[in-house]
Amino acid sequence: MDKLLTKAKFITTHTPRSSVVPVFRQTFVPRNAVISAVLTITARGIYEARINGTRVGKFLFAPGWTSYKTRLQVQTYDVTKMIEQEVCIDILLGSGWHYGHIQLEKFAVICDPCVIAELNVVYEDGTSECIVTDESWMYSKTPILFSDYYDGEIYDANVTYGDWKPVVITDGKREALIEQEGEIVTAIEELPAINYFITPKGERVIDFGQEVTGFVCFRTVGEIGSRISIDHAEILDKDGNFYNENYRSAKSNITYITDGDTEKWYHPVFSFQGFRYIRLTEYPSKDVYVGDFRAVVVHSDIKRTGWFSCSDPLVNRLYENVIWGQRGNFLDIPTDCPQRNERLGWTGDAEVFCRTAAYNYDVERFFAKWLRDLEADQAESGAIASVVPNMLWDPDGAFAWGDAATVCPWEIYRAYGDPKILARQFNSMMKWVNYVYNKGNGPEAWGGGNQYGDWLSLDAEEGSCYGATSHQLLATAFLSYACDLLIKAGRVLGRDMAVYEARRREVGETFVQHFVDENGWLTSDTQTAYVCALRFGLAPDVPRYAAHLAELIKNNGNKLKTGFIGTAFIMEALSENGYADVAYSLLLQKEFPSWLYSVRKGATTIWEHWDGLKPDGSVWSKDMNSFNHYAYGAVASFMYGTICGIQPDEEHPGYANIKIAPIPDARLDWAHAMLDTRHGTVISGWEKCEGGYRISVTVPDGATADVTVGDKTEHVAGGTYEYFLNA
Ligand code: BGC
Repeated sequence: MDKLLTKAKFITTHTPRSSVVPVFRQTFVPRNAVISAVLTITARGIYEARINGTRVGKFLFAPGWTSYKTRLQVQTYDVTKMIEQEVCIDILLGSGWHYGHIQLEKFAVICDPCVIAELNVVYEDGTSECIVTDESWMYSKTPILFSDYYDGEIYDANVTYGDWKPVVITDGKREALIEQEGEIVTAIEELPAINYFITPKGERVIDFGQEVTGFVCFRTVGEIGSRISIDHAEILDKDGNFYNENYRSAKSNITYITDGDTEKWYHPVFSFQGFRYIRLTEYPSKDVYVGDFRAVVVHSDIKRTGWFSCSDPLVNRLYENVIWGQRGNFLDIPTDCPQRNERLGWTGDAEVFCRTAAYNYDVERFFAKWLRDLEADQAESGAIASVVPNMLWDPDGAFAWGDAATVCPWEIYRAYGDPKILARQFNSMMKWVNYVYNKGNGPEAWGGGNQYGDWLSLDAEEGSCYGATSHQLLATAFLSYACDLLIKAGRVLGRDMAVYEARRREVGETFVQHFVDENGWLTSDTQTAYVCALRFGLAPDVPRYAAHLAELIKNNGNKLKTGFIGTAFIMEALSENGYADVAYSLLLQKEFPSWLYSVRKGATTIWEHWDGLKPDGSVWSKDMNSFNHYAYGAVASFMYGTICGIQPDEEHPGYANIKIAPIPDARLDWAHAMLDTRHGTVISGWEKCEGGYRISVTVPDGATADVTVGDKTEHVAGGTYEYFLNA
């Protein structure tokens, strides 16, 4: 990539951190007929390039978010068809992730915002020309007077380009340039507004019927100089009023100052929001037409691969909410949420959701890119930041969060079967395991420092986010799990893992010594503790522990008490150990706290908190209450993997051999899942019938499967098969 951008210079303005978005311009006249023209470009900040006024490419918020210190993606666009007799190249530069409000002040940005570009033109006569960013470019202000992810955008349609000044040359750290790795972020679809109403407070609100991430696109109305000011919200409060206190300091406001032209449509250029509702805080017309507003859904251009449906409409809505949660948070990196002043790559969230993500969408490339950033931001010590790209350096590296280093590569390998991801991440995985292990001698050290524990679990003390399960217990369990995954990865890569096998044994023994009492029970009598012991192979007596977990749930009215960690693994911990019926009870639970409780409360995405909206309609808190946080969406892997029973075979990953073991339950009449894999489309479904269930399975021709029905397993080649299971 260096080769391509060596001639160009990084250019900026005299006031590089001004809130006004600048445009950089160059014009030229092609000297001959053009047979090819390629624009190569990147920026510190986010850019939009235009040739003769037309946008180049579909990549929104390019160059995307990476660990900017060492990795800055460069894009190339074939612009041959855009070349005319005279060419005007404009490059607009917004703050994006580089230096906006999203960057905490304590972390100085790497360098001033700037752009670098080359336009390589090949003529019919065989000659070529290269137009590069350099001293000869000019810059101007634009109508975008302010732009920021968190805070929104101010656009004055009366402002025109002008007062051109020569650019300033700056050091943009060329050594960080890398090729584009991830999918581009782009506008995927548009949703119409479905309702306009006046709230009890008298505010004018529009509802899109679905929480999305992206931006609102609207027709500009009003006399010259009048303002359209739009605020965003996820929910209405219990009285039906517009509520966005949970956005915290993210202003999420779009203001447009009109030039009197009512035929234009506008949407922000360098800002995105998470929202279902908008408030017309200022709107220069008494009449409001819903047809004048659309919600543009924006996310990484990942391909959908999984579909699930069943006879229960509430479960189907929950499943759709998981899909929307992923769509709303896979915006170049896996974010925790898209609305408040975070929108960061929280590692724990990605770790618990990765398996589900890989059912729903093809996320191999998406995670490959992000994991490289995780490695780039990994400390020398091996510690992993809690957010990647790293903005909040916490050198302690928390368990379950830092474990994204081992879990995500393994999940991606499991789902897609390409060992390259393991080869590339192996060192990072190993460094993480070594780091935790070497923190000190035993659980006190492993679980020490900054930890989040079973984050947001309901067994936490009133007002606390940390959960009742001992951090030391969880840290030890996760270290054991990390060793397991590292060992598995090492074996795939043909490495000698004896050191880690010994370590795994030692950690497993330490777990039992410290956290199993004289009666054989865990010292933390919580759902999450038993989930982890079972799921990570640490239970000294599996049937007894599984029965106890089932009992803890039943004694709690068939309700969860788990947070980020327990919730991600509870369904598998139950169904892998003979208690799928209890997992079904959790899934089908409609009362608070449960997944379907949020659905009954009107959720269209997955909530951060079980009690985001309390039964009486009040909110649990305004400080940390996202309604679009995918972590608890991990439940969808139970739908694909247990209800319909589609799982990869780790010995033949990527669904080369498929494990198909559906577990029906009489509380549903039917269920159906379909998954596009690297080896073709696999389908598994069942319906209730006289005396039991009719199960139908399709194995793609490119694969084999082990189909388990009841206690019988058969190995089959591609084809469609029917089975009967007694009720
Ligand atoms: C984020 C999370 C994250 C957590 C860590 C929150 O503010 O939104 O999802 O994992 O902090 O404790």
